Amino acid sequence: MAFVQLEGLGKRYGEIDAVVATNLSVEKGEFVSLLGPSGCGKTTTLQMIAGFVEVSSGRIVLDGRDITHAKPASRGLGVVFQSYALFPHMTVKDNVAFGLRMRKVANGELQQRVDRVLKLVRLNQHAERYPRELSGGQRQRVALARALVIEPPVLLLDEPLSNLDANLREEMQFEIRRIQREVGITTLMVTHDQSEALSISDRVVVMQAGRITQIDAPYTLYEHPRTEFISGFVGKANLLPGERDGAGVVQVRSGGELILSLRPEKIDLRDKGQGRLQGNIVSRFFLGSQWLYGVSTTLGELSVVRRNDGSAPLTEGTAVGLDWDATLLRVLSVDEVPA
Ligand SMILES: Nc1ncnc2c1ncn2[C@@H]1O[C@H](COP(=O)(O)OP(=O)(O)O)[C@@H](O)[C@H]1O
Ligand SMILES: [Mg+2]
Repeated sequence: MAFVQLEGLGKRYGEIDAVVATNLSVEKGEFVSLLGPSGCGKTTTLQMIAGFVEVSSGRIVLDGRDITHAKPASRGLGVVFQSYALFPHMTVKDNVAFGLRMRKVANGELQQRVDRVLKLVRLNQHAERYPRELSGGQRQRVALARALVIEPPVLLLDEPLSNLDANLREEMQFEIRRIQREVGITTLMVTHDQSEALSISDRVVVMQAGRITQIDAPYTLYEHPRTEFISGFVGKANLLPGERDGAGVVQVRSGGELILSLRPEKIDLRDKGQGRLQGNIVSRFFLGSQWLYGVSTTLGELSVVRRNDGSAPLTEGTAVGLDWDATLLRVLSVDEVPA
């Protein structure tokens, strides 16, 4: 049996179905992200697992134990929320030790555990500082240390990096993953940031309007999005009409009844007259390591991403041919969930 199991989990607020009949199994040591747009029920799901929001229907099972109605403290889970309030009048060390003092852990052991976890989050040099003397990223690490020091069976993170600026956020993504691997702790993280979910998770759970719509490893999710919404939410997608040819192979066809997705980096630019489709460059954006082109075609405007290999980019107005490997076309299902 999975380590954390959600069985038909649901939450109603009056007339609003915040979370609907959610089934999810998380293995021990796994890092799973809940990804979806604002309001889709991510926080509610996490809060039900933490025990801060009462469950309307279904069950939560942790390591074989039904904890659906257990008090939050008795679940003993590590929780880091978006607004992680540290105690301002306590040093880093005391902030981290707080949970252990509450649990009446003996002083010798307490010191050892605090030292160990501060090393883990690389804050052992700052143990005597106060929160106001720390950067945003360092404070975030204190919050993480505070959750980890109680050695919880599961770590719950709700948008833990959303208060950090872009560079720091990326750095902290790798930090969280390193720490999670080192400790081997089962982790559930909520995020609305698809690149964050893809870069650090073992599996990503996509949520829409209170429902799970896809669960897959990051690479599979990106390469095989199930629906139109997911293809556009997880990365960028070109949507094209298509149909199956006599051999059952999917092809792009004007007026075809299938909806196909083709990622911008899967399209090659060729000389005018070559390739599968003709177009004109109508826009060009420099992304640093890549160029993003807008190309107008008879099938609509397509996005094409090309690696910046150091050569001069194409200019707007240039006529080009577009080509792709037909095996990279994905057939999408129509969204069954209201947006
Ligand atoms: N305490 C509450 N009372 C009423 N509605 C709520 C409450 N908390 C959340 N909701 C509603 O439940 C839905 C899911 O919210 P939430 O889980 O916070 O979404 P997310 O974290 O994905 O942004 C939203 O429609 C939200 O307005
Ligand atoms: Mg939320």
